[in-house]
Amino acid sequence: MIYVAVLGYGTVGSGVVEVIENNNAEVSLKAGEEMHVKYILDLRDFPGDPYEQLVTHDFDSILNDPEVSIVCEVMGGVGTAYQYTRACLEAGKSVCTSNKELVAKHGAELIEIARNHNCSYMFEASVGGGIPIIRPLNKALTPERIEKISAILNGTTNYILTKMEQEGADYEETLKQAQALGYAERNPEADVEGHDTCRKIAILSSLMVGKNVDSEKIYTEGITKITAADFALAKAADMTIKLVATSNYLENGTLLAYVSPMILAKEAPLASVNDVFNGVLITGNMLGDVMFYGRGAGKLPTASAVVSDVIDCARHVGRTSIVCIWDKEEMQLADLSETEKVFFLRAALSAKDEIVNAFPGGKLIELEGAEEFGYFTTCMKEKEFDAKAIVLGDKIHNRIRVA
Ligand code: HSE
Repeated sequence: MIYVAVLGYGTVGSGVVEVIENNNAEVSLKAGEEMHVKYILDLRDFPGDPYEQLVTHDFDSILNDPEVSIVCEVMGGVGTAYQYTRACLEAGKSVCTSNKELVAKHGAELIEIARNHNCSYMFEASVGGGIPIIRPLNKALTPERIEKISAILNGTTNYILTKMEQEGADYEETLKQAQALGYAERNPEADVEGHDTCRKIAILSSLMVGKNVDSEKIYTEGITKITAADFALAKAADMTIKLVATSNYLENGTLLAYVSPMILAKEAPLASVNDVFNGVLITGNMLGDVMFYGRGAGKLPTASAVVSDVIDCARHVGRTSIVCIWDKEEMQLADLSETEKVFFLRAALSAKDEIVNAFPGGKLIELEGAEEFGYFTTCMKEKEFDAKAIVLGDKIHNRIRVA
């Protein structure tokens, strides 16, 4: 018998219990042994819940129970979750998590602790919700030198941008709708400012290069400045706008990693990733492009990813289940301001001559009756663009990087 403990009985935690117990025949068959949840750790009680008898408030009873070999940390945060994870790994219990904040911050260290204690630290659910992406990077794509990852990694912002495009609505109005439907948190900052996406691309980038990519050093821009006018102009150019995380190996051996809204051609692979879905496009030097698509958030898709890790651990009790190369050594990140790209501008018609003179050779996008126009610059360094944009000041109403 394999016994599992679940730390945190929130949305994902209750989903993990549901997947293990409701899909027990499947889960036990794949694990090679019957599997059940023995403890659920939470500060609260859950009277009337079908699993209320499993609820405990005492972490030590889990830590000291030799029957528990696998622990799911689905509490979130980087304080208690970190202490409990360390304690479990040091006791030789594998830990499976959806906690991207903790993985991004302490992934390298926790993987090493697990390796030294013949167990595993697994985090399939931390990126892309139910999409298998960590396991493919660690297993299927191992012969590749991954050259680039471009991804939509946040369901909330992708839902908001999709609705803005489809309904011609503005950001604030769409955010309120998303909150009413339960897609966006009451405090949506981590999603809309791009921090959630940033942590996820830091995790993918660390696996891509095998060294630690510090999420705090990744340039991150959210979606709060995108307007209905940006979408109208993008549509006229047969393009759309997405919050894209990019990680790109440069020829000088550094990694260019950033999160930013991007305007991209309608036929680009990520352009068709809509609503709460996520998409990850990976370019390998031998394989070429491969794309992963699916539900990037939600109780059962995320829980299913956690349980896929639990099953892997059950198959490898007493040893590390998957080779995961993520050293503590820090990866050097490229300076975004030195890199080149095309920029899309939205500006008042009254500033048209000035904008065209400042960025000669670009392409105008004009809409009948509109007070603003769109403009694609030629390809230039970010720092050259910024120097010109500062002079133009608020004549530029928005700028979006072109994919
Ligand atoms: N807030 C996240 C999202 C949840 O919207 O994608 C999944 O990590």
